[in-house]
Amino acid sequence: MIPLVDLKGEYNLLKEEIQNAIHNVLQSGSYILGEKGRELEQKIASLTGTSYAAGVANGTDALILSLEALGIGHGDEVITTPFTFFATAEAISSVGAIPVFVDIDSITYNLNPNLIEQCITDRTKAIMVVHLFGQPADMDAIRKVASEFNLKVIEDACQTIHSTYKGKSIGSFGDISCFSFYPSKNLGAYGDGGMIVTNDNTLYERILLLRNHGSLEKYKHRFIGYNSRLDEVQAAILLVKLKMITEWIDRRKDLAKRYTAKLSEFVGTPTIELDREHTFHQYCIKLKNRDGLVVYLKEKGIATAIYYPIPLHLMEAYHSLYYKKGDFPIAENTANSIMALPIFPTMTLKQQDYVISSLMEFIGNQK
Ligand SMILES: Cc1ncc(COP(=O)(O)O)c(C=O)c1O
Repeated sequence: MIPLVDLKGEYNLLKEEIQNAIHNVLQSGSYILGEKGRELEQKIASLTGTSYAAGVANGTDALILSLEALGIGHGDEVITTPFTFFATAEAISSVGAIPVFVDIDSITYNLNPNLIEQCITDRTKAIMVVHLFGQPADMDAIRKVASEFNLKVIEDACQTIHSTYKGKSIGSFGDISCFSFYPSKNLGAYGDGGMIVTNDNTLYERILLLRNHGSLEKYKHRFIGYNSRLDEVQAAILLVKLKMITEWIDRRKDLAKRYTAKLSEFVGTPTIELDREHTFHQYCIKLKNRDGLVVYLKEKGIATAIYYPIPLHLMEAYHSLYYKKGDFPIAENTANSIMALPIFPTMTLKQQDYVISSLMEFIGNQK
């Protein structure tokens, strides 16, 4: 079986170092908000070229705390994409705000900046931009409309660590930006984890309070917060894995290049915009008979996945927002035709060739 990702394979490469790192934390007696967490925060701030980073419990909390820190809440509107993981919009709803969906660009699958302005009302407070699959969104255009209408920008960079747009790191464009360390992410923990980065000292200080019950000093609570901290074991594991980030992303890029060279004539392959670096958290293709290919590859022992089969405006959870089929044609068409192929740093060329030849067989059988 060729998996979609091979987390055990990655672990085996780093086994000794990771076991030592975990052991050292267990021996230290400090398990939450300690030295490892602080070291990771410094390294992520430096990787993303931002001034401040704060570890939190997961990427969803990173989004929720960021919205709260910006003062976004009940009745406010936040513009976002309908083609993303549910947590993006869920975070907006969690703080009592309303997600306002805008269709995506058909090439990058990210928010189409040209469609934002027509959705702005006097309740709009922010744009939550997602960099999907490792491909940065068009940040110049998004920041332009945000500054024209005095909106905050929150980057949902949960899938896109260590990517760049015009040479600058993703995470450094938003007023505040969020990363996830969910195990399958390009930088994944062995449990949940997340990080918020910002250049704004006031927002950073609010996040430090929000993640710790509204408190910095024991038993002095300034407001109602959350219990959302990145624990020391996960931070220590992430510090080991962080050393591999460039090498492993380069490997993803090489594999993606190879897929595209062999497949672009036959199926829709990802386009890398000239001014951006795509880190291929997912390698997604588009084709008409997507469902047939999923079944065919499964029979050949190749795992695939569909990210995402239902755009958020058509999710049951959002029936109350009264969107309907046809509202966002590009997102809907993409949801019906997209699928992810296996891509992971330990993937061998032999494994990839098998995926490619199986896919070509399917295409040949369709003719
Ligand atoms: C785009 C996006 N936003 C938010 C999240 C939420 O992150 P987490 O699973 O760490 O809560 C994820 C990942 O799962 C994601 O892919």
